[in-house]
Amino acid sequence: MTTTAILTAAGSGDRLGHPIPKALVPIADAPLVVHAARRLLASNVVDALVVTAPPGVVGPMARVLHDAGIEPVIVIAGGATRQESVAAGLEALPPGAGDDVVIVHDAARPFAPVSLIRRVVRAVREGHSAVIPALPVADTIKQISAGDRVEYVVGTPDRSVLRAVQTPQGFSRALLEQAHAVAAQRPASDHATDDAGLVEELGEAVVVIRGSSRAMKITTQTDLRIASALFDEEPI
Ligand code: C5P
Repeated sequence: MTTTAILTAAGSGDRLGHPIPKALVPIADAPLVVHAARRLLASNVVDALVVTAPPGVVGPMARVLHDAGIEPVIVIAGGATRQESVAAGLEALPPGAGDDVVIVHDAARPFAPVSLIRRVVRAVREGHSAVIPALPVADTIKQISAGDRVEYVVGTPDRSVLRAVQTPQGFSRALLEQAHAVAAQRPASDHATDDAGLVEELGEAVVVIRGSSRAMKITTQTDLRIASALFDEEPI
């Protein structure tokens, strides 16, 4: 039973307002993609690693990973959307066995702890075909109408049944490939922001396990500062 990690790092990171792709933005001694890759390999449950890079940056990203001692790793060009990048990662996998596991992780969550990575993989190996880590939401969430200038509230979902979803997300390889094959027919505007969403559309069960606040996603400059503090507290 082989476990492969697809590490998505092909985003531009426009919302971070940095001139270089987000995955290459450094915190302390290394860029985000290296922090995330280090933890995936340190988990000792990942046998192979595929990283999706922005198409113009495949060579430099491969070099950065190599210089940081990340081995073995395959670096490929990602797509125009995250969904396309994950699909490209799946295409790059060598032929596998029926019980193989694939976890999909975002370089934008560089400090997802080794323990979380292990728990996700364990849950898939125990027989759950789709597993996602998630945390209860602290804020009240409103649903709004998609108006042009003014937003109006149309509903307030019960917070107790809402979860904020993280990565890594873990899947049986066959199920994830099937989900992406179906989703590839859709226009880019309908692409999913996470892989579990594609599995849900097949009508398959997705199991939720406890996430980690350390697996926070870096989107803005403020997130980058918070993540830097997390790194100072616990370097791996
Ligand atoms: O843009 P956002 O932060 O939501 O992206 C989530 C993850 O997906 C990031 O790690 C980003 O690098 C990756 N991504 C990708 N290919 C894209 C867009 C985003 O691999 N086309």
